[in-house]
Amino acid sequence: MNILGIETSCDETAAAVVKDGREVLSNVVYTQIPLHQPYGGVVPEIASRAHVEKITEVVRTAMADHRIDAVAVTYGPGLSPALIVGLNAAKGLALSMGVPLIAINHIEAHLHTPFLYDAGETTTVPDPADLYPSLGLAISGGHTNWFDIAAAGKYATIGQTLDDAAGEAFDKASKLLGLGYPGGPRVDKIAKAYIASPEFAAEGGWKGLFPFPKGRPRDGVTALAGLPAELCVSFSGLKTALLRFVQQSGYTLGEGGANPPPKGWLEKVVTSYQEAIVQAVADRSRTALGRWKYKAFILGGGVSLNSRLRTVLSKVAEDAGVPLLMAKPKYCGDNGAMIAGLAYTRYNITGEESFAIDVAPSLEVG
Ligand code: KG4
Ligand code: ZN
Repeated sequence: MNILGIETSCDETAAAVVKDGREVLSNVVYTQIPLHQPYGGVVPEIASRAHVEKITEVVRTAMADHRIDAVAVTYGPGLSPALIVGLNAAKGLALSMGVPLIAINHIEAHLHTPFLYDAGETTTVPDPADLYPSLGLAISGGHTNWFDIAAAGKYATIGQTLDDAAGEAFDKASKLLGLGYPGGPRVDKIAKAYIASPEFAAEGGWKGLFPFPKGRPRDGVTALAGLPAELCVSFSGLKTALLRFVQQSGYTLGEGGANPPPKGWLEKVVTSYQEAIVQAVADRSRTALGRWKYKAFILGGGVSLNSRLRTVLSKVAEDAGVPLLMAKPKYCGDNGAMIAGLAYTRYNITGEESFAIDVAPSLEVG
């Protein structure tokens, strides 16, 4: 069964055709990052209009001459004016082709990405059906959620961020340090080079890093989400700590500043900040894996591209004796293949009544 998947929840206009939930026949992603770069973040109005401009071309390219048996689309969470573009396009297409429309939760779809493989390739990744119950971690610019995945489509949130998502924490730090947007890839690159440099060892390695707070929620704050503190993170304090740290240093960042920091200082700050996020995520993941018996640890979302996070979580999974399943880099960010892929497992549950569906910008999981 070939499903066309459409994704427009944020700043990527994307469409893909996936066969039987896993074999990606086509995957087209138009990224709007350059449009939002001057603003240091995604501007909803600009995102929406760019989706309107690009959606037809992106969908037409993805469809090529593939037979389409159903259309799947992200209906939330995300930016309302952006979601509407994809949902309306999907409704029109499904209606005109006389095929079912399947509405998909964006975050749940991220957790399907490790199971995708390319047309003609033989995959060694097991079928998700053989891995229940699994621990899932969706970590992106909008979300940091740990899920108990009991069966196909049965997701329960067991932990989450109480404020900023991990990707947001990377993006805000990058902006503050004058490194540009989006922050995650830039922080990752700088930290990777620093860790490999002689300066890192000379400064005492991991132990010598600046001590930023490790994302522990404050007492009482967890009551808000009703989830245990040891499975939740809070990154807003980390961002404030970074701001204060930079201010107290007295250094001026950016070109031509009066008091520029010494060589290696900014790199060490970036690496320390990244490590605080990575260790917070690793700690909660270790706790969840220790508390329940899982068959696998499934990772999805843009931040799962982070090289240090991949290394550390691989060790966490290994220690817990479970495989860590991660997507190919091209499926880590937002894409249509994850929407089409998850839709296949959902098809029997949802079906045609999705035509009445509206966008759900604050959609929860489960
Ligand atoms: O999944 P995604 O494309 O969109 C959302 O659903 O949010 O994730 C985008 C986020 C951004 O915050 C970006 O900075 C972050 O993923 N990101 C990274 C890396 N690559 C992208 N964060 C850390 N390290 C990376 N290498
Ligand atoms: Zn996403």
